[in-house]
Amino acid sequence: MKNLNIQTPFSIFDSQADLPVSIQELMLQAQDAITRAYAPYSHFQVGAAILLENGKIVTGNNQENAAYPSGMCAERVAIWSASSQYPNVAVKKIVITVKSTLKQVNKPVAPCGACRQTLLEYEHKQNEPIEVYFMGETGKVVLAHSLKDLLPFAFDESFL
Ligand code: THU
Repeated sequence: MKNLNIQTPFSIFDSQADLPVSIQELMLQAQDAITRAYAPYSHFQVGAAILLENGKIVTGNNQENAAYPSGMCAERVAIWSASSQYPNVAVKKIVITVKSTLKQVNKPVAPCGACRQTLLEYEHKQNEPIEVYFMGETGKVVLAHSLKDLLPFAFDESFL
């Protein structure tokens, strides 16, 4: 038996104001996307903004449904929208933020497992890392430099 210790580098920014200006702008787009979220059940609104290699920004937000599993997360709305509009343009960055009407979210909210799996698919497809920035409504911002860092031992096309 051997133990495997995986070390993962993340970058932590103290606040939104400490981000590079171009990322602050993306965060503003994600915050704007939150205002169009449809989250009447969880009252937890999520916004995502994706920067593509061609400079376009594609946003998404969570869309809920009375049949709960039929709803969708912001990250997947955004990445599928990007891929459906710009199928062969690489994704450089995705920036994610949240707002709840029930409580103040002051810690970074990481993408769920299904969103990590979905985003990883596109990272593999383009063979180039996608940076993921995520935060709460306020507080620190986390930067993961690649989807690989958020999903070790992922299932991918190599198994098929
Ligand atoms: N949600 C997202 O949009 N992204 C995630 O990564 C986690 C959760 C949404 C789904 C649902 O509408 C609400 O947040 C509460 O789970």
